[in-house]
Amino acid sequence: METILLKTPTTSGTIRVGTDVIDARLHVLTAGQKNFVVTDSNVYALYQDWFARYFNGAEIFVLPAGEENKNFQSLYAILEKMSAVGLHRNSRLFAVGGGVVGDIGGLAAALYMRGISCVQIPTTLLAQVDSSVGGKTAVDLGGVKNIVGAFYQPCEVLIDPAFLRTLPPREIKCGVGEIVKYAALNGKIFDILEENTDKLTDLAFLTELIVACVQHKANVVQADEKESGERRSLNVGHTTGHAIELSSGLSHGESVLYGMLFETRMAIGAGVCESAYGQRLLALVEKAIAIAPNTDVDFSQIDKDAEKARSDKKNLDDGKIKMAVAKDKNEWTMFALGFEEYRTALLQAVK
Ligand code: NAD
Ligand code: GLY
Repeated sequence: METILLKTPTTSGTIRVGTDVIDARLHVLTAGQKNFVVTDSNVYALYQDWFARYFNGAEIFVLPAGEENKNFQSLYAILEKMSAVGLHRNSRLFAVGGGVVGDIGGLAAALYMRGISCVQIPTTLLAQVDSSVGGKTAVDLGGVKNIVGAFYQPCEVLIDPAFLRTLPPREIKCGVGEIVKYAALNGKIFDILEENTDKLTDLAFLTELIVACVQHKANVVQADEKESGERRSLNVGHTTGHAIELSSGLSHGESVLYGMLFETRMAIGAGVCESAYGQRLLALVEKAIAIAPNTDVDFSQIDKDAEKARSDKKNLDDGKIKMAVAKDKNEWTMFALGFEEYRTALLQAVK
């Protein structure tokens, strides 16, 4: 088992990675208080025996699977159930699932009685390499991604790569998308990926990368928990990615991959990203997309989606669209364009 500590000015948490983490930690974490589990319908159906074994007697809230359920109605239903079953301040919430469950479950834990203990048990590759770590919790509202949320650190994150065995290729691709994001920020991860592009669906290989990504994220979050500086780097590809996600029906990980593709091309075109390095990064992005190609995506109308980038949380009141982009190996920067410039550059980038 690998153990990574994440300490912020106000809290600390432990991230554990390995196929032994559940047996080693769950009986300790579930003992001595009421427990409440949030999961989704797919995970619950696949892992019913697992839930019966580790959460016998706990209240289990099963959210219908899908990003469209990461909303206020679901949050309200979870909080209502937490209250109805009489959770107290010392009760503990376990979020068992992908990033949707982690985000909404974490937010419910942050809100209930102004905050109860939360454990994240991520079951998708995307959640294992990224979303379960760092304490961002949120729901979507009014067609805007993650617009209502809180920074709320889990006391523990248990990452068991065995969950990845049931993931379909499309979900593996989404997780690899976030790994490519870490490659854009971290030269060591970049080199490992570039040297092993034939292993992007090899679970043993991906498992090795989980620790490297989580360690990178923990370092960034420790330095800048509330995203006023360095943490903005973790949004590489996300400004355009969120716009694509809201407009296209593609999932988060896939949208971020296309976001990275287009934003890197824009950054190369503007001279912001070093060209030879940028081409190597684009090659990694394209390899990830090829894991489960989207045969039916059409970006010819992307200038309409561009409008959605206006609501990105990195934007300020100056009307500019802000993107976190790779500049060179181990280097990133914020790249800002006025809206019309952004729309034009994006149209150019999809060609
Ligand atoms: P998801 O939670 O929707 O999971 C993807 C699909 O995989 C779902 O259908 C789910 O039911 C299924 N699934 C989960 N575990 C499985 C397993 N072990 N086997 C088979 N199927 C399984 O999506 P995601 O890609 O995990 O996460 C995307 C979400 O995460 C988005 O809402 C995004 O905004 C959020 N996110 C948050 C952060 C953060 O820092 N908080 C970072 C990145 C993404
Ligand atoms: N996924 C971006 C962040 O956690 O900051």
